[in-house]
Amino acid sequence: MTVTVPVPLGERAYAIRIGAGLLGQAGAEIAPMLRRPRLAVVTEATVARLHLAALEESLAVAGIEARALVLEPGEAAKGWHGLERTTEWLIAERVGRDDRVLAFGGGVIGDLAGFAAAILRRGVGFIQMPTTLLAQVDSSVGGKTGINSPQGKNLVGAFHQPSLVLADTALLDTLPERDFRAGYAEVAKYGLLGDAGFFGWLEANAPALASGDPEARLHAVRRSCEMKAVIVVRDETEQGERALLNLGHTFGHALEAATGYSDRLLHGEGVAIGCTLAFDLSARLGLCPQEAPSRVAAHFAAMGMRHRLADIPGTLPDAAGLVALMGQDKKVRDGRLAFVLARDIGDAFVARDVDLGRVEALLAEALAGRGRRETVGGKTRR
Ligand SMILES: NC(=O)c1ccc[n+]([C@@H]2O[C@H](COP(=O)([O-])OP(=O)(O)OC[C@H]3O[C@@H](n4cnc5c(N)ncnc54)[C@H](O)[C@@H]3O)[C@@H](O)[C@H]2O)c1
Repeated sequence: MTVTVPVPLGERAYAIRIGAGLLGQAGAEIAPMLRRPRLAVVTEATVARLHLAALEESLAVAGIEARALVLEPGEAAKGWHGLERTTEWLIAERVGRDDRVLAFGGGVIGDLAGFAAAILRRGVGFIQMPTTLLAQVDSSVGGKTGINSPQGKNLVGAFHQPSLVLADTALLDTLPERDFRAGYAEVAKYGLLGDAGFFGWLEANAPALASGDPEARLHAVRRSCEMKAVIVVRDETEQGERALLNLGHTFGHALEAATGYSDRLLHGEGVAIGCTLAFDLSARLGLCPQEAPSRVAAHFAAMGMRHRLADIPGTLPDAAGLVALMGQDKKVRDGRLAFVLARDIGDAFVARDVDLGRVEALLAEALAGRGRRETVGGKTRR
């Protein structure tokens, strides 16, 4: 079954198509959007090895000639060098303003190829074919594209909406467990920020989701996309409400920076740890019930996810160092850091008046707990 979630953004409106096996229909889905039967596909080596032949076949059946740029997998591709390589390749392939670029991969490829499309000839249309859970529920929707700067995450970018999103949930079968869990943090985030009923559904059904149940997957991806679409339509360029989608991200981005955007911490893992910290902070500030952070942590633990500072291997900066890293985040406005806090599960809000001393104290305590855990039984967890 294929379902459609509309993103009604006026002349930038598009459809998110979700279903198991959509890869086989990609050609038929995409063909009506092309002025000429050619498509520039930007992908990376892991996705190419597993799924590019099937995509090319599906495109060929629809009479579309595909050319593919295969980048190295991983976050490092999402930088200046990856952007230059991708943009120059698109120019060399003579991709014009009437053509479409297909981003075929996870959030890294979607962000990078989307940004290259945004700046190529002042804007070429692009299609997202997300292959990770994170990309299917989050990064492929909403038009945020960009790259990392050595000075911080996603600091260079543009809003550029895709013209179509094709999320084949069967592609998640090949996703490594760690990446699945990291993407799941973004799914849980939707329940935590705005739909307590969905969070309750996840508590009951996430194990089925993780073990590959097709209906559970379809529901989780669809509900996540619906929630993101509603928020994006109300606040496309993040002047207000869209910031709710950053639940867990102010902490998470600082942790990603602290770990050098490396394998030590995946983006979604930073989000899960960040969500736990955001609920902890909300409870400490007397904003939400004391049980809420325990419920969040218990669910992440039940899913086998990294969700505490103690779960990050290696050394981290001290609490003041982490707060300083948060200052580099895009969510700083008028010198104030924005935190997404919660009144309860499913009821988040943006706060700009958080006392950074309280944040530092929370982090100091979490880091101390980390030290204790690392030396349990005389063994250091590294
Ligand atoms: N634009 C946005 O709104 C937005 C939102 C959230 C996150 N992001 C960005 O997304 C990025 C993270 O995305 P991600 O977690 O998808 O990372 P990713 O693109 O690096 O993919 C994760 C890993 O999964 C592999 N992979 C991808 N699809 C696979 C498949 N079907 N089978 C097997 N392996 C597969 C990749 O090779 C990679 O090793 C970050 O850069 C983050 O900043 C953007």
